[in-house]
Amino acid sequence: MKYLLSITFICFSYIRFATSSFCYWNTACSYRYFSSVTPYSAVRGDIRDSVINIKECEPVSIWGLFRHGRTHPAAKRAGKMKEAISIRDLVVSSYEKGRCSLCAQDIDNLRDWPVNYDLFEKTNALQDEGYQDMFGIGYRLKTVFPQFLDKLEHESYLFKPSDHHWSKESAEAFVKGLGSQNLVIDNQKILNGPDFIFNDGIDSSQKEDESIDEANEYTISSEFLAANDRIQRRLGIDYSLTDDNITALYDLCRYSWSGLHNKASPWCALFTTEDLKVLEYIEDLVHYYKNGYGRKNASQFGHKPLQDLLQKFQRAKEGKGNIITACTNKDVTDYHVMFYMNEEPLRSVCEGGICSWGEFERILSPFLNSTQRYSD
Ligand SMILES: *[C@@H]1O[C@H](CO)[C@@H](O)[C@H](O)[C@H]1NC(C)=O
Ligand SMILES: *[C@@H]1O[C@H](CO)[C@@H](O)[C@H](O)[C@H]1NC(C)=O
Ligand SMILES: *[C@@H]1O[C@H](CO)[C@@H](O)[C@H](O)[C@H]1NC(C)=O
Repeated sequence: MKYLLSITFICFSYIRFATSSFCYWNTACSYRYFSSVTPYSAVRGDIRDSVINIKECEPVSIWGLFRHGRTHPAAKRAGKMKEAISIRDLVVSSYEKGRCSLCAQDIDNLRDWPVNYDLFEKTNALQDEGYQDMFGIGYRLKTVFPQFLDKLEHESYLFKPSDHHWSKESAEAFVKGLGSQNLVIDNQKILNGPDFIFNDGIDSSQKEDESIDEANEYTISSEFLAANDRIQRRLGIDYSLTDDNITALYDLCRYSWSGLHNKASPWCALFTTEDLKVLEYIEDLVHYYKNGYGRKNASQFGHKPLQDLLQKFQRAKEGKGNIITACTNKDVTDYHVMFYMNEEPLRSVCEGGICSWGEFERILSPFLNSTQRYSD
Protein backbone atom coordinates (compact mmCIF):
# COMPACT_ATOMS: atom_id res chain seq x y z
CA MET A 1 0.00 0.00 0.00
CA LYS A 2 2.74 2.32 0.95
CA TYR A 3 4.58 1.45 -2.21
CA LEU A 4 1.55 2.15 -4.38
CA LEU A 5 0.96 5.47 -2.74
CA SER A 6 4.42 6.71 -3.47
CA ILE A 7 4.11 5.68 -7.10
CA THR A 8 0.88 7.60 -7.29
CA PHE A 9 2.65 10.53 -5.79
CA ILE A 10 5.49 10.31 -8.29
CA CYS A 11 3.10 10.09 -11.22
CA PHE A 12 1.09 12.95 -9.90
CA SER A 13 4.10 15.20 -9.42
CA TYR A 14 5.39 14.29 -12.84
CA ILE A 15 2.14 15.33 -14.49
CA ARG A 16 1.99 18.50 -12.46
CA PHE A 17 5.47 19.35 -13.57
CA ALA A 18 4.75 18.60 -17.21
CA THR A 19 1.68 20.82 -17.40
CA SER A 20 2.92 23.70 -15.27
CA SER A 21 5.96 24.08 -17.51
CA PHE A 22 3.53 25.41 -20.15
CA CYS A 23 1.99 28.13 -18.00
CA TYR A 24 1.75 31.56 -19.52
CA TRP A 25 2.15 33.65 -16.37
CA ASN A 26 5.66 32.36 -15.62
CA THR A 27 6.96 32.25 -19.17
CA ALA A 28 10.17 34.25 -19.14
CA CYS A 29 9.85 35.41 -22.74
CA SER A 30 6.23 35.65 -23.76
CA TYR A 31 5.66 36.34 -27.45
CA ARG A 32 5.42 40.10 -27.97
CA TYR A 33 4.81 40.57 -31.69
CA PHE A 34 1.21 41.46 -32.50
CA SER A 35 1.41 42.85 -36.01
CA SER A 36 0.47 46.56 -35.96
CA VAL A 37 -0.34 46.41 -32.22
CA THR A 38 3.17 45.30 -31.20
CA PRO A 39 4.31 47.43 -28.25
CA TYR A 40 7.04 49.84 -29.32
CA SER A 41 9.11 48.67 -26.35
CA ALA A 42 9.21 45.16 -27.88
CA VAL A 43 11.02 46.34 -30.99
CA ARG A 44 12.89 49.50 -30.10
CA GLY A 45 16.52 50.08 -29.37
CA ASP A 46 17.64 53.15 -27.46
CA ILE A 47 19.14 56.06 -29.30
CA ARG A 48 21.05 57.01 -26.13
CA ASP A 49 23.02 53.74 -26.40
CA SER A 50 23.06 53.28 -30.15
CA VAL A 51 23.91 56.77 -31.36
CA ILE A 52 26.88 56.78 -33.72
CA ASN A 53 29.48 59.32 -32.77
CA ILE A 54 32.14 60.32 -35.29
CA LYS A 55 35.18 62.19 -34.08
CA GLU A 56 34.99 65.92 -34.67
CA CYS A 57 31.44 65.67 -35.95
CA GLU A 58 28.60 67.72 -34.61
CA PRO A 59 24.94 67.29 -35.41
CA VAL A 60 23.43 69.81 -37.80
CA SER A 61 19.97 68.50 -38.64
CA ILE A 62 17.45 65.77 -37.76
CA TRP A 63 14.67 64.44 -39.98
CA GLY A 64 12.34 61.68 -38.84
CA LEU A 65 9.23 59.80 -39.88
CA PHE A 66 7.34 58.46 -36.87
CA ARG A 67 4.34 56.25 -36.63
CA HIS A 68 1.71 57.47 -34.17
CA GLY A 69 1.66 55.89 -30.72
CA ARG A 70 -0.58 52.95 -29.95
CA THR A 71 -4.31 53.68 -30.04
CA HIS A 72 -7.44 52.00 -28.74
CA PRO A 73 -9.15 49.78 -31.29
CA ALA A 74 -11.63 51.17 -33.84
CA ALA A 75 -15.37 50.92 -33.06
CA LYS A 76 -16.16 47.71 -34.95
CA ARG A 77 -13.27 45.78 -33.41
CA ALA A 78 -14.00 47.24 -29.97
CA GLY A 79 -17.63 46.05 -30.08
CA LYS A 80 -16.61 42.47 -30.81
CA MET A 81 -13.95 42.53 -28.09
CA LYS A 82 -16.43 43.75 -25.51
CA GLU A 83 -18.83 40.97 -26.43
CA ALA A 84 -16.07 38.36 -26.27
CA ILE A 85 -15.33 39.18 -22.62
CA SER A 86 -18.23 36.86 -21.74
CA ILE A 87 -16.14 33.95 -23.05
CA ARG A 88 -13.95 34.23 -19.96
CA ASP A 89 -16.78 32.92 -17.73
CA LEU A 90 -17.09 29.91 -20.02
CA VAL A 91 -13.34 29.30 -19.76
CA VAL A 92 -13.34 29.61 -15.96
CA SER A 93 -16.26 27.23 -15.56
CA SER A 94 -14.71 24.80 -18.03
CA TYR A 95 -11.55 24.88 -15.88
CA GLU A 96 -13.59 24.18 -12.76
CA LYS A 97 -15.09 21.13 -14.47
CA GLY A 98 -11.57 19.94 -15.32
CA ARG A 99 -12.00 20.37 -19.06
CA CYS A 100 -9.69 23.28 -19.65
CA SER A 101 -5.93 22.77 -19.73
CA LEU A 102 -4.91 26.30 -18.75
CA CYS A 103 -2.82 26.73 -15.58
CA ALA A 104 -4.49 27.67 -12.30
CA GLN A 105 -2.67 31.00 -12.04
CA ASP A 106 -3.53 31.90 -15.63
CA ILE A 107 -7.19 31.24 -14.84
CA ASP A 108 -6.95 33.44 -11.71
CA ASN A 109 -5.33 36.23 -13.70
CA LEU A 110 -7.97 36.02 -16.39
CA ARG A 111 -10.82 36.05 -13.87
CA ASP A 112 -9.29 39.02 -12.02
CA TRP A 113 -8.56 41.02 -15.17
CA PRO A 114 -10.12 44.43 -14.58
CA VAL A 115 -12.23 45.49 -17.54
CA ASN A 116 -10.92 48.80 -18.83
CA TYR A 117 -13.97 50.31 -20.51
CA ASP A 118 -11.87 53.03 -22.11
CA LEU A 119 -10.58 50.33 -24.41
CA PHE A 120 -14.05 49.93 -25.95
CA GLU A 121 -15.47 53.40 -25.50
CA LYS A 122 -12.63 55.75 -26.43
CA THR A 123 -12.30 54.23 -29.86
CA ASN A 124 -9.17 55.18 -31.82
CA ALA A 125 -7.93 57.35 -28.93
CA LEU A 126 -4.22 57.47 -28.29
CA GLN A 127 -3.51 55.09 -25.41
CA ASP A 128 -1.52 56.28 -22.44
CA GLU A 129 1.16 53.85 -23.61
CA GLY A 130 1.16 55.47 -27.05
CA TYR A 131 1.53 58.88 -25.45
CA GLN A 132 4.41 57.70 -23.24
CA ASP A 133 6.15 56.05 -26.22
CA MET A 134 6.07 59.26 -28.25
CA PHE A 135 7.11 61.33 -25.26
CA GLY A 136 10.00 58.89 -24.69
CA ILE A 137 11.28 59.23 -28.25
CA GLY A 138 11.37 63.01 -27.92
CA TYR A 139 12.98 62.78 -24.50
CA ARG A 140 15.73 60.40 -25.65
CA LEU A 141 16.51 62.47 -28.73
CA LYS A 142 16.85 65.54 -26.56
CA THR A 143 19.17 63.63 -24.22
CA VAL A 144 21.41 62.63 -27.14
CA PHE A 145 21.37 65.95 -28.99
CA PRO A 146 20.95 68.55 -26.27
CA GLN A 147 22.97 71.21 -28.10
CA PHE A 148 20.58 71.98 -30.87
CA LEU A 149 17.32 70.58 -29.52
CA ASP A 150 17.57 72.87 -26.55
CA LYS A 151 16.80 76.22 -28.08
CA LEU A 152 14.86 75.69 -31.26
CA GLU A 153 14.40 79.02 -32.99
CA HIS A 154 11.17 79.87 -34.72
CA GLU A 155 11.22 78.56 -38.33
CA SER A 156 14.29 76.38 -37.65
CA TYR A 157 12.05 73.36 -37.18
CA LEU A 158 8.88 71.74 -38.46
CA PHE A 159 6.61 69.21 -36.72
CA LYS A 160 4.02 67.92 -39.09
CA PRO A 161 1.45 65.32 -38.00
CA SER A 162 -1.00 63.68 -40.37
CA ASP A 163 -4.61 64.70 -40.12
CA HIS A 164 -5.82 62.07 -37.62
CA HIS A 165 -6.40 63.20 -34.05
CA TRP A 166 -4.20 60.36 -32.71
CA SER A 167 -1.33 61.60 -34.91
CA LYS A 168 -1.76 65.12 -33.63
CA GLU A 169 -1.80 63.91 -30.03
CA SER A 170 1.30 61.82 -30.78
CA ALA A 171 3.09 64.89 -32.14
CA GLU A 172 2.17 66.79 -28.98
CA ALA A 173 3.61 64.03 -26.81
CA PHE A 174 6.81 63.96 -28.88
CA VAL A 175 7.25 67.71 -28.59
CA LYS A 176 6.58 67.58 -24.82
CA GLY A 177 9.32 64.95 -24.60
CA LEU A 178 11.74 67.34 -26.26
CA GLY A 179 11.12 69.49 -23.21
CA SER A 180 11.59 72.84 -24.93
CA GLN A 181 9.14 75.61 -24.30
CA ASN A 182 6.70 77.01 -26.79
CA LEU A 183 7.34 74.69 -29.72
CA VAL A 184 4.64 75.01 -32.34
CA ILE A 185 3.16 72.06 -34.22
CA ASP A 186 2.08 72.71 -37.78
CA ASN A 187 -1.37 71.17 -37.96
CA GLN A 188 -2.13 72.41 -41.44
CA LYS A 189 -2.99 69.59 -43.77
CA ILE A 190 -0.08 69.17 -46.20
CA LEU A 191 1.86 65.95 -46.31
CA ASN A 192 -0.35 63.35 -44.71
CA GLY A 193 0.59 60.08 -43.10
CA PRO A 194 0.52 56.59 -44.52
CA ASP A 195 -3.28 56.40 -44.67
CA PHE A 196 -3.30 59.28 -47.02
CA ILE A 197 -0.27 58.19 -48.98
CA PHE A 198 -1.60 54.68 -49.39
CA ASN A 199 -5.10 55.69 -50.34
CA ASP A 200 -4.17 58.28 -52.89
CA GLY A 201 -5.67 57.74 -56.30
CA ILE A 202 -6.75 54.19 -55.66
CA ASP A 203 -10.27 52.90 -55.41
CA SER A 204 -10.51 52.17 -51.70
CA SER A 205 -13.25 49.52 -51.85
CA GLN A 206 -11.21 47.48 -54.30
CA LYS A 207 -8.13 47.78 -52.09
CA GLU A 208 -10.02 46.67 -48.99
CA ASP A 209 -11.41 43.58 -50.77
CA GLU A 210 -8.05 42.48 -52.04
CA SER A 211 -6.41 42.53 -48.64
CA ILE A 212 -9.33 40.76 -47.00
CA ASP A 213 -9.50 38.12 -49.74
CA GLU A 214 -5.96 37.05 -48.99
CA ALA A 215 -6.63 36.87 -45.27
CA ASN A 216 -9.85 34.90 -45.86
CA GLU A 217 -7.92 32.47 -48.02
CA TYR A 218 -5.58 31.84 -45.10
CA THR A 219 -8.49 31.09 -42.74
CA ILE A 220 -9.21 27.90 -44.69
CA SER A 221 -5.59 26.75 -44.65
CA SER A 222 -4.66 23.71 -42.56
CA GLU A 223 -2.29 25.86 -40.51
CA PHE A 224 -5.08 28.19 -39.42
CA LEU A 225 -7.61 25.39 -38.89
CA ALA A 226 -5.13 23.53 -36.70
CA ALA A 227 -4.60 26.64 -34.54
CA ASN A 228 -8.36 27.07 -34.27
CA ASP A 229 -8.74 23.49 -33.18
CA ARG A 230 -5.94 23.76 -30.62
CA ILE A 231 -7.57 26.83 -29.05
CA GLN A 232 -11.00 25.22 -28.87
CA ARG A 233 -9.59 22.04 -27.30
CA ARG A 234 -7.38 23.87 -24.81
CA LEU A 235 -10.30 25.94 -23.53
CA GLY A 236 -12.60 22.93 -23.42
CA ILE A 237 -15.73 25.06 -23.76
CA ASP A 238 -18.95 23.86 -25.38
CA TYR A 239 -19.34 27.18 -27.15
CA SER A 240 -18.07 26.74 -30.68
CA LEU A 241 -15.68 29.63 -31.39
CA THR A 242 -16.08 31.36 -34.73
CA ASP A 243 -13.19 33.08 -36.53
CA ASP A 244 -14.65 36.38 -35.32
CA ASN A 245 -14.59 35.18 -31.70
CA ILE A 246 -10.97 34.10 -31.98
CA THR A 247 -10.00 37.43 -33.54
CA ALA A 248 -11.80 39.23 -30.69
CA LEU A 249 -9.97 37.14 -28.07
CA TYR A 250 -6.68 37.83 -29.85
CA ASP A 251 -7.50 41.55 -29.85
CA LEU A 252 -8.20 41.41 -26.11
CA CYS A 253 -4.79 39.82 -25.69
CA ARG A 254 -2.80 42.25 -27.79
CA TYR A 255 -4.60 45.48 -26.89
CA SER A 256 -4.24 44.80 -23.17
CA TRP A 257 -0.60 43.69 -23.35
CA SER A 258 1.23 46.47 -21.53
CA GLY A 259 4.42 47.53 -23.21
CA LEU A 260 4.86 50.30 -20.63
CA HIS A 261 5.19 47.85 -17.76
CA ASN A 262 6.28 44.95 -19.94
CA LYS A 263 3.30 43.07 -18.57
CA ALA A 264 1.65 40.29 -20.53
CA SER A 265 -2.13 40.22 -20.76
CA PRO A 266 -3.87 37.23 -19.13
CA TRP A 267 -5.95 36.94 -22.32
CA CYS A 268 -2.80 35.84 -24.12
CA ALA A 269 -2.76 32.72 -21.93
CA LEU A 270 -5.56 31.35 -24.15
CA PHE A 271 -3.01 30.97 -26.92
CA THR A 272 0.26 29.16 -27.42
CA THR A 273 3.13 30.99 -29.11
CA GLU A 274 2.32 29.02 -32.24
CA ASP A 275 -1.30 30.24 -32.16
CA LEU A 276 -0.12 33.82 -31.65
CA LYS A 277 2.12 33.54 -34.71
CA VAL A 278 -0.78 32.29 -36.83
CA LEU A 279 -3.01 35.16 -35.68
CA GLU A 280 -0.23 37.67 -36.22
CA TYR A 281 0.22 36.31 -39.73
CA ILE A 282 -3.41 37.03 -40.63
CA GLU A 283 -3.02 40.64 -39.53
CA ASP A 284 0.27 40.93 -41.41
CA LEU A 285 -1.40 39.58 -44.56
CA VAL A 286 -4.07 42.25 -44.37
CA HIS A 287 -1.46 44.99 -43.98
CA TYR A 288 0.77 43.52 -46.66
CA TYR A 289 -1.99 43.85 -49.26
CA LYS A 290 -3.59 46.97 -47.87
CA ASN A 291 -0.58 49.19 -47.34
CA GLY A 292 2.56 47.11 -47.86
CA TYR A 293 4.55 45.49 -50.62
CA GLY A 294 1.55 43.50 -51.83
CA ARG A 295 -0.09 46.71 -53.01
CA LYS A 296 0.28 47.71 -56.64
CA ASN A 297 2.75 50.59 -56.99
CA ALA A 298 3.65 50.28 -53.32
CA SER A 299 7.26 51.13 -54.10
CA GLN A 300 6.12 54.63 -55.04
CA PHE A 301 4.49 55.37 -51.70
CA GLY A 302 7.71 56.32 -49.97
CA HIS A 303 8.99 58.64 -52.67
CA LYS A 304 7.45 61.78 -51.28
CA PRO A 305 8.97 61.53 -47.79
CA LEU A 306 12.36 60.61 -49.31
CA GLN A 307 12.19 63.67 -51.55
CA ASP A 308 11.44 65.76 -48.54
CA LEU A 309 14.35 64.25 -46.59
CA LEU A 310 16.82 64.96 -49.39
CA GLN A 311 15.60 68.50 -49.95
CA LYS A 312 15.57 69.36 -46.24
CA PHE A 313 19.15 68.14 -45.80
CA GLN A 314 20.35 69.89 -48.95
CA ARG A 315 18.99 73.11 -47.52
CA ALA A 316 20.49 72.40 -44.11
CA LYS A 317 23.89 71.82 -45.74
CA GLU A 318 23.62 75.21 -47.33
CA GLY A 319 23.01 76.61 -43.88
CA LYS A 320 19.33 77.28 -44.50
CA GLY A 321 16.73 76.12 -42.09
CA ASN A 322 16.64 72.79 -40.45
CA ILE A 323 19.22 70.87 -38.84
CA ILE A 324 22.75 66.74 -40.29
CA THR A 325 26.02 65.90 -39.01
CA ALA A 326 28.89 68.12 -40.05
CA CYS A 327 32.48 67.02 -39.50
CA THR A 328 35.03 69.75 -39.46
CA ASN A 329 38.51 68.63 -40.31
CA LYS A 330 40.83 71.65 -40.56
CA ASP A 331 39.32 73.79 -43.33
CA VAL A 332 37.09 71.21 -45.03
CA THR A 333 33.58 70.54 -43.82
CA ASP A 334 32.48 67.02 -44.52
CA TYR A 335 28.86 65.94 -44.19
CA HIS A 336 27.58 62.52 -43.19
CA VAL A 337 24.07 61.18 -42.79
CA MET A 338 23.24 58.58 -40.17
CA PHE A 339 20.16 56.39 -40.60
CA TYR A 340 18.29 54.85 -37.69
CA MET A 341 15.22 52.67 -37.48
CA ASN A 342 13.46 52.12 -34.16
CA GLU A 343 16.45 53.77 -32.48
CA GLU A 344 19.00 51.33 -33.91
CA PRO A 345 21.42 52.16 -36.75
CA LEU A 346 19.92 51.11 -40.09
CA ARG A 347 22.89 49.36 -41.69
CA SER A 348 21.23 48.32 -44.94
CA VAL A 349 21.36 51.79 -46.47
CA CYS A 350 25.08 52.49 -46.06
CA GLU A 351 27.82 50.57 -44.32
CA GLY A 352 27.53 50.80 -40.55
CA GLY A 353 24.50 53.07 -40.93
CA ILE A 354 26.71 56.01 -42.00
CA CYS A 355 26.37 57.50 -45.49
CA SER A 356 28.83 59.97 -46.92
CA TRP A 357 27.12 63.02 -48.38
CA GLY A 358 27.85 61.71 -51.90
CA GLU A 359 26.25 58.32 -51.16
CA PHE A 360 23.25 59.98 -49.58
CA GLU A 361 22.56 62.18 -52.60
CA ARG A 362 23.17 59.31 -55.03
CA ILE A 363 20.71 57.02 -53.20
CA LEU A 364 17.95 59.58 -52.74
CA SER A 365 18.05 61.73 -55.86
CA PRO A 366 16.16 59.21 -58.08
CA PHE A 367 13.10 59.99 -55.95
CA LEU A 368 13.16 63.67 -56.77
CA ASN A 369 11.34 63.05 -60.03
CA SER A 370 8.63 60.88 -58.55
CA THR A 371 5.32 61.40 -60.29
CA GLN A 372 3.15 60.06 -57.47
CA ARG A 373 0.30 62.50 -56.85
CA TYR A 374 0.02 64.31 -53.51
CA SER A 375 -2.08 67.22 -52.49
CA ASP A 376 0.48 69.53 -50.96
C1 LIG B 1 -18.95 34.97 -31.76
O1 LIG B 1 -18.98 35.37 -33.12
C2 LIG B 1 -20.27 35.43 -33.71
C3 LIG B 1 -20.11 35.86 -35.15
O2 LIG B 1 -19.17 35.08 -35.82
C4 LIG B 1 -21.11 36.43 -32.95
O3 LIG B 1 -22.43 36.43 -33.49
C5 LIG B 1 -21.14 36.06 -31.49
O4 LIG B 1 -21.86 37.06 -30.78
C6 LIG B 1 -19.73 35.97 -30.93
N1 LIG B 1 -19.78 35.55 -29.55
C7 LIG B 1 -19.17 36.22 -28.56
C8 LIG B 1 -19.34 35.65 -27.19
O5 LIG B 1 -18.51 37.22 -28.73
C1 LIG C 1 0.73 52.36 -61.04
O1 LIG C 1 1.69 53.15 -61.70
C2 LIG C 1 1.48 53.26 -63.10
C3 LIG C 1 2.65 54.05 -63.70
O2 LIG C 1 3.26 54.90 -62.80
C4 LIG C 1 0.14 53.96 -63.34
O3 LIG C 1 -0.12 54.06 -64.74
C5 LIG C 1 -0.98 53.14 -62.69
O4 LIG C 1 -2.20 53.82 -62.79
C6 LIG C 1 -0.66 52.93 -61.20
N1 LIG C 1 -1.65 52.03 -60.65
C7 LIG C 1 -2.28 52.28 -59.52
C8 LIG C 1 -3.24 51.22 -59.08
O5 LIG C 1 -2.10 53.30 -58.88
C1 LIG D 1 14.72 64.46 -63.27
O1 LIG D 1 14.10 64.98 -64.42
C2 LIG D 1 14.88 65.96 -65.09
C3 LIG D 1 14.04 66.53 -66.23
O2 LIG D 1 13.18 65.57 -66.78
C4 LIG D 1 16.18 65.32 -65.59
O3 LIG D 1 16.98 66.27 -66.24
C5 LIG D 1 16.94 64.75 -64.41
O4 LIG D 1 18.08 64.05 -64.84
C6 LIG D 1 16.04 63.79 -63.61
N1 LIG D 1 16.74 63.41 -62.41
C7 LIG D 1 16.80 62.17 -61.97
C8 LIG D 1 17.57 61.97 -60.70
O5 LIG D 1 16.26 61.22 -62.53
